[in-house]
Amino acid sequence: MLTVQEDITSSAPPGARAEDYSIVTRGLTKRFRGGQVAVDHLDLAVPKGSVFGFLGPNGSGKTTTIRMLLGLVAPSEGGWELLGSPMPGGLRTALPRVGALVEGPSFYPYLSGEANLRRYDAADPTVDRRTASARIGDALDRVGLTAAARKRYRAYSLGMRQRLAIAAALLRPRELLILDEPTNGLDPQGTREVRGLVKEIAAEGTTVFVSSHLLAEIEQMCSHVAVMRAGRLAAQGPLAALRAGEAVRISVETPDVTRAEAVLKGLGLSGVRTGQDADNEVSAELGEEPAERICAELVTAGIAVRGLAVRRPSLEDVFVGLTGEGFDVAG
Ligand SMILES: Nc1ncnc2c1ncn2[C@@H]1O[C@H](COP(=O)(O)OP(=O)(O)OP(=O)(O)O)[C@@H](O)[C@H]1O
Ligand SMILES: [Mg+2]
Repeated sequence: MLTVQEDITSSAPPGARAEDYSIVTRGLTKRFRGGQVAVDHLDLAVPKGSVFGFLGPNGSGKTTTIRMLLGLVAPSEGGWELLGSPMPGGLRTALPRVGALVEGPSFYPYLSGEANLRRYDAADPTVDRRTASARIGDALDRVGLTAAARKRYRAYSLGMRQRLAIAAALLRPRELLILDEPTNGLDPQGTREVRGLVKEIAAEGTTVFVSSHLLAEIEQMCSHVAVMRAGRLAAQGPLAALRAGEAVRISVETPDVTRAEAVLKGLGLSGVRTGQDADNEVSAELGEEPAERICAELVTAGIAVRGLAVRRPSLEDVFVGLTGEGFDVAG
């Protein structure tokens, strides 16, 4: 049995088997003409049954990665597996088991949402024709489009279009659902509904790979996350593990920043930083040192301590740290 330890990614747990993963990429790279590297040696391992958030700022390579996974664009380098089969050779057999929503799905503007789904379904040679109406009705119902089923696609709002694209991916049971920014253009209510839908689909046993540039969204629906930064993987793993990886910090507010900094360093604390949140602030990783002892040391050194805080990092801190400045975390 193939173990993935050495050849997939360092983040795969020891003893993990290839069949435990719905998506695996090895050194997946896309260089566009003109030389731009949109995706740079990406090693992803998406565990079966996970809701896997693919997070990154605009232009970090999420859509390009998804297009490669689905065989819509050829990688310049590297390889990948979907549902245990090597691609692109296995695309024909794997793709019917994969539902996808990628930027700009094409629907006929002059047909209704329902008629569009009917055409979409008819183009799939592997489904049972007799169940088409029931499946289409069910898919429309799941995305909340039943009332607008007869409306022309042309007259759909952006959110309705997005929902229809999700419905198209749900026309048959799927083992893997790949959604590129499924809540793009949705109002808060629609966003909540999509989140609920993703959880519901996951609870039925479908692995969901969902991209987003919004941290809050990923945080609320995902069990695992990969963070992209300029085409490269900054981190991946269970959400809880990423959270646990960031150290608790102690932050001191004082007019004597320079001397306080020296005291913290003298205590052997790591990650000493000044002026992170305010000019008169110095902070460090707390480590094993009790906060009260640090406070006492500062006071003994004659430093005026105006404020002292122990901060547990939010997931936002973790991601900003991973992706750098300019990451749209608030939405
Ligand atoms: N067909 C193309 N030709 C040349 N460059 C491209 C092409 N498609 C994408 N790129 C570039 O590759 C980079 C990654 O783009 P991509 O669309 O994958 O990012 P993204 O993470 O999906 O961004 P967003 O959050 O805005 O959707 C960008 O710099 C983009 O300009
Ligand atoms: Mg994109």
